[in-house]
Amino acid sequence: MALAIYRKYRPRTFADLLGQELVVEILTNAAKMDKISHAYLFHGPRGTGKTTAARLLAKIANCETRVSDEIFKKKGEPCNKCRPCKEIDSGFALDVIELDAASNTGVDDIRELKEGIRLSPTSYKYKIFIIDEVHRLSKNAFDALLKTLEEPPSHAIFILATTEEDKVPLTISSRTQRFHFRRLPIQSILQKLEMIVKTEGIKIAPDALELIATSSEGSFRDAESLLEQVINMGEAMDLESVERILGKVGFIRTDALAGLILAQDLEKTLEYLADINEAGFNLVQLTKDLIHYLRRILAYKFDSKLGEYYEREFTINEVESIKKHADSIKDPTKVIDLIKSLIRGYSQMRYSPFTLVPLEIAIIENLKSN
Ligand SMILES: Nc1ncnc2c1ncn2[C@@H]1O[C@H](COP(=O)(O)OP(=O)(O)O)[C@@H](O)[C@H]1O
Ligand SMILES: [Mg+2]
Ligand SMILES: [Zn+2]
Repeated sequence: MALAIYRKYRPRTFADLLGQELVVEILTNAAKMDKISHAYLFHGPRGTGKTTAARLLAKIANCETRVSDEIFKKKGEPCNKCRPCKEIDSGFALDVIELDAASNTGVDDIRELKEGIRLSPTSYKYKIFIIDEVHRLSKNAFDALLKTLEEPPSHAIFILATTEEDKVPLTISSRTQRFHFRRLPIQSILQKLEMIVKTEGIKIAPDALELIATSSEGSFRDAESLLEQVINMGEAMDLESVERILGKVGFIRTDALAGLILAQDLEKTLEYLADINEAGFNLVQLTKDLIHYLRRILAYKFDSKLGEYYEREFTINEVESIKKHADSIKDPTKVIDLIKSLIRGYSQMRYSPFTLVPLEIAIIENLKSN
């Protein structure tokens, strides 16, 4: 595949930005009414569409079709055909300045930025400043930015993005329109991955694709780069390959292991663990996944409404398994003790050369008396 997936499949319209309905609604309405603000703050986990939305706004502010065609403008979208739209898509727009605050915090960078803000756009209507990871700007840079935001020049639009909203000084964030980008539900991620493999004519097992989606923890970027990694490996694209690449077992094995443990079957549990260990999987990761899985099963036992939340992180079949395990629990205190031992085991494993031992001990401790 010639193009990196995340570039090739970056949404080019708000309609393609999945799972951020509220953000999309407000921004497209602003676009329809020509009420683009001068400063935005996009915050939320990585890979949820912040930079994508920033570029969409940059296109909308400068789209020529929106100026010449009143009816088109009512769509609240960029045309993706005019010169500014195309240039912004290709990343060669002089008036769209993308800055990574994590690496551009020097005095010179800020002086340059200040200078840049003062000057009018070279060929567009608006000059757009997209400042990524804005919470990492230096004190000097923040001061400069603050001055600008107090009286932004009419030709400039600032789009600040961050994964850590609480680290952005209130003096800055209070001068912006703030938007929260949500972690994406597994179904949206799966939907997009399916669209990508279909378009590219790639054959991949459904359970392998599901593991990619669930491993991405709500980040499209992670899901897409994982998919790309799997494709580039050139192996059979099945569950085992994906597990190997991730170095972690998929849901099926975590689920099977949890089932054996909850059934209090010590022998089978130990054998299953030995198999997983032999296959070279990361046991620390396995323990972490197991703890999270058991915790969800336990919590579901006490509050079945949690099923709705789980549907954001798990596939339908996986949610069914959680429910089934929860129903099978007779004595919740045993599961609580087990989780406590696993947590203890987990913290020991991370600093121990014997990763298997703390995990085994935790399990034996809890299942032995039966
Ligand atoms: N909400 C979304 N809908 C569809 N694809 C998305 C979404 N968010 C991110 N992506 C995909 O992930 C890639 C990285 O997204 P990006 O906007 O750079 O994330 P962020 O800036 O929030 O870290 C995009 O190129 C796109 O392919
Ligand atoms: Mg980004
Ligand atoms: Zn356009």
